[in-house]
Amino acid sequence: MPPQNKTMKTEIYTITDPVSQKSEIEEIASLLKKGEAVAIPTETVYGIAADCFNEEAVAKIFEAKGRPSDNPLIVHIAKTEELYSLVKEVPESVKKLTDKYWPGPLTVILPKKDCISDRVSGYLPTVAVRMPSHPVSRAIIEAARVPLAAPSANISGFPSPTSFTHVKDDMTGRLPAIVDGGDCELGIESTVISFATEIPTLLRPGAVTYEQLTEVLGEVKLHSAILNPLEKGATAASPGMKYKHYSPTARLRVFKGTKEELKEYLEKYPDIFDHILCFEGEEDEFSLPAVTFGKEDDPFSQAKRLFDSFRELDDMGAKRVIVRAPSENGVGLGVCNRLYRAAGFSFILPTDGIIIGITGESGSGKSTVCKKLEEKGFYIIDADKLAREITDKGSPVLKRLGEAFGEDIISPDGTLDRRLLASRAFKDFESKALLDSITHPEIVSRCENTAKMKTKEGKCVIIDAPLLFTSGLHLICHKTVRVFAPEEIRLQRILERDKITREEALLRFSKQTEEAKAAEKADGIINNYPPFDIDEEINKICPSGIRIASQLN
Ligand code: TXA
Ligand code: MG
Repeated sequence: MPPQNKTMKTEIYTITDPVSQKSEIEEIASLLKKGEAVAIPTETVYGIAADCFNEEAVAKIFEAKGRPSDNPLIVHIAKTEELYSLVKEVPESVKKLTDKYWPGPLTVILPKKDCISDRVSGYLPTVAVRMPSHPVSRAIIEAARVPLAAPSANISGFPSPTSFTHVKDDMTGRLPAIVDGGDCELGIESTVISFATEIPTLLRPGAVTYEQLTEVLGEVKLHSAILNPLEKGATAASPGMKYKHYSPTARLRVFKGTKEELKEYLEKYPDIFDHILCFEGEEDEFSLPAVTFGKEDDPFSQAKRLFDSFRELDDMGAKRVIVRAPSENGVGLGVCNRLYRAAGFSFILPTDGIIIGITGESGSGKSTVCKKLEEKGFYIIDADKLAREITDKGSPVLKRLGEAFGEDIISPDGTLDRRLLASRAFKDFESKALLDSITHPEIVSRCENTAKMKTKEGKCVIIDAPLLFTSGLHLICHKTVRVFAPEEIRLQRILERDKITREEALLRFSKQTEEAKAAEKADGIINNYPPFDIDEEINKICPSGIRIASQLN
């Protein structure tokens, strides 16, 4: 959430007929002319609008949303002619396209004129322009007599608001006015196409479909980040691609298979997901609490419901949600793009196994639990072992550690002097953060590669990681579990096992407080101390997983 406190008085304007409610439209327009930012309805999603030529007004949009300043805004116009005052040139192909689809859910990107500030363009040489069809937004733009810069009216990173209730929840106290125009007809943001490239490139699919674009333009490139994660190190053609968007708080995973296959999968692993996002009419076919998002054969209905369904899942307290991928055709491409991004492009195939992450403080008996799970057929990834391997002689991580902490941490024989590194890396918060920033991404990516490979073979994987949450490894797990024992018991265990002093043991504990705090959010707990029976506890956490894993033996 943006740091700004929600103390502003927010006026609500309910507009059902912009023609008869002319005086209210004028009031809203005068707020905009005065340099205020106002939430307005469009046919796609609600937006936060401000005079695109007023720097201070535009700054208010970013403040209300908590949006990164390099993410550019779309400029909204009421008449096609206005496009000419914003961009350097309007090619024939753009004319053809806007003639057909404006007003409507289509945004075109073209080289900008100087009147567009860096704030609006996100320091790019181009600007995004669209003419909405919603009568209320058009009336407001016309009355303001100036193009309005407007991003979606959600808090940055959260689902775009598609109803007045959403925008009221998100923006009350952050803006001086919200215009209530009812539910948005389409429910996903406009199609964004760039003409700054030699061949026009579709950057964001929406209700104007890829098929419709190619019909007018001939060849259109489909940006790879629409259906796949942005490649590491690649620059985003559209800065919005970099940011996790559209996402509910719950972890979402996309199942790529038929309804029958999903049923089988959930029977095999009934304890991994706590909610299902499914098509209308299917809600009683699964044993999980369900939220629906439109009909399977009607992508328009899916688009209209999608963001609303994300909010519903959050309201229900969903933590781990599975959803079956809809068709990627037509408007479905836009639906899939939002859904896949919300899921962080995390897909499950019918034959995939599951990944369970296990954390636990020193002495909790995490290794014992993992050993038992291994006997039951789980494939164990030891994250600690992996962490040592990434700093093997000659490895790129070792080289970077040398650059960061001094070349002398690499011994003459080329191996890492762990003690010397520890003395430097654990001396203060910044050094520790630097160490983590070098090692954690590598550990996560190696764990992920191995885990994915094994699950593709149908195996169930345990990631045994004392820093499951603090390293970010929990994000690749379908479920997380904390092995727990009270401090006194853990202390006894490690005093006996490791032959260290009480002080040394307590020091070790103090280094794990951050992880222990984060681990309180784990999906399950295995109590590993008397009077609990460890086998029963394990069974409680993943009975089906064990059943499946045993079959693999
Ligand atoms: O339907 C919509 O387009 C809604 C309503 C309110 O009109 N607006 C909207 O705006 O979705 P926003 O800011 O949430 O999304 C605009 C997207 C962002 O991903 C941004 O990075 C991209 O368009 N974009 C804007 N200007 C761009 C440019 N010059 N080059 C590349 N991408 C651009
Ligand atoms: Mg947005």
